[in-house]
Amino acid sequence: MAEERILLIVGGGIAAYKSLELVRLCRKAGLAVRPILTQAGAEFVTPLSLAALAEDKVYSELFSLTDEAEMGHIELSRSADLVVVAPATADLMAKAAAGLASDLASTTLLATDKPVLMAPAMNVRMWEHPATRRNLAQLKADGVLFVGPDEGPMACGEYGEGRMAEPPAILAAIQAALSVAGARPLAGKRAIVTAGPTAEPIDPVRVITNRSSGKQGFAIAGALAELGAQVTLVAGPVAQPTPPGVTRLDVETAREMLEACEAALPAEIAVCVAAVADWRPQTAGARKLKKGADGPPPIALVENPDILATLAKSPKRPRLVIGFAAETHDLEENARAKLAKKGCDWIVANDVSLPGVMGGDDNTVAIVSRGGVERWDRLSKGAVARKLAERIAEELS
Ligand code: CTP
Repeated sequence: MAEERILLIVGGGIAAYKSLELVRLCRKAGLAVRPILTQAGAEFVTPLSLAALAEDKVYSELFSLTDEAEMGHIELSRSADLVVVAPATADLMAKAAAGLASDLASTTLLATDKPVLMAPAMNVRMWEHPATRRNLAQLKADGVLFVGPDEGPMACGEYGEGRMAEPPAILAAIQAALSVAGARPLAGKRAIVTAGPTAEPIDPVRVITNRSSGKQGFAIAGALAELGAQVTLVAGPVAQPTPPGVTRLDVETAREMLEACEAALPAEIAVCVAAVADWRPQTAGARKLKKGADGPPPIALVENPDILATLAKSPKRPRLVIGFAAETHDLEENARAKLAKKGCDWIVANDVSLPGVMGGDDNTVAIVSRGGVERWDRLSKGAVARKLAERIAEELS
């Protein structure tokens, strides 16, 4: 197996001296370490000690001619299996939580698509400050992993929580994160994901559609692919980039979406996230409707096929069929009813009464199955996707 690669960001705190020991332990454990040293970090440890222990070049400037020529900052952020921030200072946490890209370390954190592990280190009052609590909650919602901090006497003479975790504990957290990141438990499994709205023609220029952004469905397709699944993403009209490793089929109507899903069978997993139009105009004329003396034309609607229910009762039924339900009230009761009606295995019930869910980046969901209900905290849509993909992998293992 190829050597696993850590990108280690060393922030400016007295705990930086422990990062040298961390580098030594990582190297001993067979991990490659590429260090980024912030300007403040360089006040505590020298680039030379870091480079000598890491046996690699130390990167520190965003627009350095020599650094960028060797490895651009975007490439740097992608070249690792795991990004580790140790010490993660209050400043680095705040920058990452806000998505700032003001130096090499913060730009790398914003540009990476790899898991991030932070080992915070700061004075106890900075750690307990509401601003740091907010940043911590935001970073956790974004899927960032944490190790420590520990409680104890501090370099500043105070006592409390805020000491960076010890290097062996950080190494253990690194190894745990790598084994999750490196595992591809869905390798060899096929998955179908529907996402986005559908658009149902009234005439050649007009459609009935809805405001679904497709964000959650695309994130799920990407997360399943990251775990090794072979994913067919059947997408209604949305402006989302195709996640890496996913086969995308663009469709417009519910009937086209169903046809594409059935053609993608057999599969072990189906996740129906699309906001399929429940009805379509009975006749979509070949000619554009014109305004006339008779006033607005009546539009007769007929029901669309239910893709989720059709997949759930197909002779080629995937082993795990999952639907989504957007609810504003009686979340679990409604989800349970939907589970029975559609014949699927899980309903991911989505509380859309909460502010910022529709079209936003966060989601608060509960997984309803015949076995019971699992409530998840508010998470980013990316984190919901990763957690769901992991639950799916667990279920099929
Ligand atoms: N679904 C589908 N095909 C349809 C309608 C819905 O595949 N024609 C799927 C959606 O992708 C989602 C679930 O069914 O997984 C949502 O069920 P739906 O009955 O549409 O519920 P809501 O949209 O929540 O609406 P309502 O509560 O009004 O029934």
